[in-house]
Amino acid sequence: MDLLLILSQEHDKLPLAELKAVIEVEEIQTDLEVVCPGLVLLKSLDDEKFDEYYQILVKRLGYTHEVHQLLSTVKYDKLEDEIISIDWSNYIKENFAVRVKRFNSEIDTVATERRVGHLILTNTDNISVNLKEPKSFIRVVAHKDSIFICYGKHQLNKKYFEIMKPHKRPFFHPGCMSPKLARCMANLARIKEGDFVLDPFCGTGGILIEAGLIGAKVIGSDIDYRMKRGAATNLDYAGVTNYRTCVVDVREMKMFEEVDAVITDPPYGISTTTCGEGTDGIFKEFLSSIEHSMKKDALLVMASPDSLDIDSLLDEVGFVLLERYSIKMHKSLTRIISVIAKIH
Ligand SMILES: C[S@@+](CC[C@H](N)C(=O)[O-])C[C@H]1O[C@@H](n2cnc3c(N)ncnc32)[C@H](O)[C@@H]1O
Repeated sequence: MDLLLILSQEHDKLPLAELKAVIEVEEIQTDLEVVCPGLVLLKSLDDEKFDEYYQILVKRLGYTHEVHQLLSTVKYDKLEDEIISIDWSNYIKENFAVRVKRFNSEIDTVATERRVGHLILTNTDNISVNLKEPKSFIRVVAHKDSIFICYGKHQLNKKYFEIMKPHKRPFFHPGCMSPKLARCMANLARIKEGDFVLDPFCGTGGILIEAGLIGAKVIGSDIDYRMKRGAATNLDYAGVTNYRTCVVDVREMKMFEEVDAVITDPPYGISTTTCGEGTDGIFKEFLSSIEHSMKKDALLVMASPDSLDIDSLLDEVGFVLLERYSIKMHKSLTRIISVIAKIH
């Protein structure tokens, strides 16, 4: 069985990198095909594990907008025949809506939605159309002259990333990261349910929340007591229960248990303080102190400003860079997201 995914196009590489990381860590056996930017097929998924995989992807991905079961792929001129040949009673309960999305295609979306909807309605008993709150959702995706006919079984929680925007949480401080990027970083760190995850510059707790919602046990520390307390308030608000927060200067950090991943956004000295230390200095001290707290195969996923030369710091402390992505935030800040491993 196959899935069709519609990815966010707000970044050219991160959504796909996030998807590949989740496939890797969740050991999802599939052939991944990028149809075009923003459109991905996961082919040949095991029938028995299909629903489990489907739910994992829906639960974890931040930069994916839609996940659907692919029912059929046809050329546009065969669309009507194909719609008639599908037994829609297997998919549609009570009422449905059809929505068309185009990628490099000129088809008339409204006319196609109406036509497909009409054909389904006239060929299936006891169902109706409900455009506002359909119980069943049929997604038709047009790419050039190919049409993907899909059934949307699970909904991604689109509202979650809206509700969880930093300024809508009970504790806010400038310099917070967007929840989508925090989720993506947690996924790039290849964390699994039950993993022990550390953010030693936890600030308002944005990264801890996303790692916690994936199912990790999270520990956050910050030099500032107000942040430690605020992060806890935000974790409670998000419904994360398996957490600890403490006040620690990262330069003096000593963990009693090695962690499975470190995911963090150290201060750049712009909107968050480096407490008197230069940005270079804080990154250098952080990197050399954190290495001892990480398990052998643990990954460090870290944000940094592009003005900082991370590579020479990594060499000095026994880390190796695996992946790197840059995100232009505004005129004077480009953020770099690095995925880093320990040299064995
Ligand atoms: C960029 S903010 C983290 C933002 C966080 N990702 C969020 O979403 O709120 C960096 C944090 O590092 C903390 N910090 C600065 N110097 C530190 C140090 N030496 N040890 C630990 N935390 C420090 C600051 O108090 C600040 O909360």
